[in-house]
Amino acid sequence: MPTTCVLGAQWGDEGKGRVVDLLADTADLVVRYQGGSNAGHTVIFAGETYRLHLIPSGILRPGKTCVMAHGVVLDIPTLFSEIEELRARGHEIGDNLVVSDRAHVVMPWHKRLDQTREQAAGARAHGTTGRGIGPCYADKVSYRGIRVGDLFDAEWLRERIDQNIAEKNHLLVEVYGQEPLDADAIHAEYLEFATRLKPYVRDAVALLHDAIDEGKQVLFEGGQGVLLDVDLGSYPYVTGSNSCALGVPSGTGIPPRALDRVIGVAKAYMTRVGTGPFPTEGDAAVDERLREAGHEFGTTTGRPRRCGWFDAVLARYSVRSNGIDEMVIVKLDVLSGFDELLVCVGYDTPEGRTDIVPATSPGLDRVKPIYESLPGFTEDVTGARTRDDLPENAQRFIAFLEQQIGVPISMVSVGPSREQIVDLRGE
Ligand code: IMP
Repeated sequence: MPTTCVLGAQWGDEGKGRVVDLLADTADLVVRYQGGSNAGHTVIFAGETYRLHLIPSGILRPGKTCVMAHGVVLDIPTLFSEIEELRARGHEIGDNLVVSDRAHVVMPWHKRLDQTREQAAGARAHGTTGRGIGPCYADKVSYRGIRVGDLFDAEWLRERIDQNIAEKNHLLVEVYGQEPLDADAIHAEYLEFATRLKPYVRDAVALLHDAIDEGKQVLFEGGQGVLLDVDLGSYPYVTGSNSCALGVPSGTGIPPRALDRVIGVAKAYMTRVGTGPFPTEGDAAVDERLREAGHEFGTTTGRPRRCGWFDAVLARYSVRSNGIDEMVIVKLDVLSGFDELLVCVGYDTPEGRTDIVPATSPGLDRVKPIYESLPGFTEDVTGARTRDDLPENAQRFIAFLEQQIGVPISMVSVGPSREQIVDLRGE
């Protein structure tokens, strides 16, 4: 299977970085295809913890080419600080890092507008990461965007900046009462960025086509999760990109047919950061306990994550809309100690029971989860490596999830380090 995509099957933070890290051993290229520095991928490598927002986590392994394809929105200062940190920790960054010349750049006005709009919205805030993601994608599709390739033509860049600044300063000053941005300073700063960025900039479309033609193993690393996808997610409480498998061809230029395998990653429960519907949230004691046991605080923003029981309706939706071939279930260890484990198997609505995910956020807010209760387990499962090492009730829980979501569960993680995996492949 030369091309594989790993994506989050829930609302992000599923631990995709970890799964990518495991699969990266056999990959030649690791590619991010959407999102930006809103992602927060935590990887424990050689006993050290790394938190990467932009650079694919494959960078920790020598000999892998890591690509930020054109579907990514690039926050250049964040990229530079990740490069510096990785170098300071002994990792070589050179030809192994590729930035697409077609990727859109997160400009200072995108972050300012994102944060200003959130502040102005008060209690109705969206709960974004404040990294300028939505405004950058909005400019991309309204033909205002600045791409990496534009940074290398001083005159053209100036024209693009001036066009944007005229409009953005009007918004910032007149609508939001903020200080204006300075076009001269931004132009000078981004020309300097261009010089530093140049060694990494390539035509990533051609690079990926060649890699696929040569039969190289390519691993696509999704950011966020299917339920935050701009089309499939709980709109408007979503992110600006296609964080589903569809994002791979559109965000990299590979043909849809070239994607061989899709691996979904889901927690054994659910979490969400930011505003939006969450059918299985609600029991404060369960929420608190999952948050503490699972250390559910955002990697990017540090915000406490909202927690609830596993929602099989949403999981099935993710499986069907992405062609997920297999699911990795993470954080099973967090469920140890609960007397009973609930799994949402359907929704009750005023029109009756349904299996369909409502299209609107108010619609998803109104559904009542129908739960199946399974007996819990109290044993510590962090040392389990095979199915038989798991307590009977944990095995029953995993088998139930598998039956509910309709695809094989290939791995179950039982702790944060690399080897804490129950590998069910080949069983
Ligand atoms: P944005 O992507 O910063 O615009 O935020 C839009 C929504 O996506 C908010 O609810 C964020 O909390 C959520 N979000 C964005 N990135 C992540 C992520 O990596 N994990 C979890 N939630 C995220």
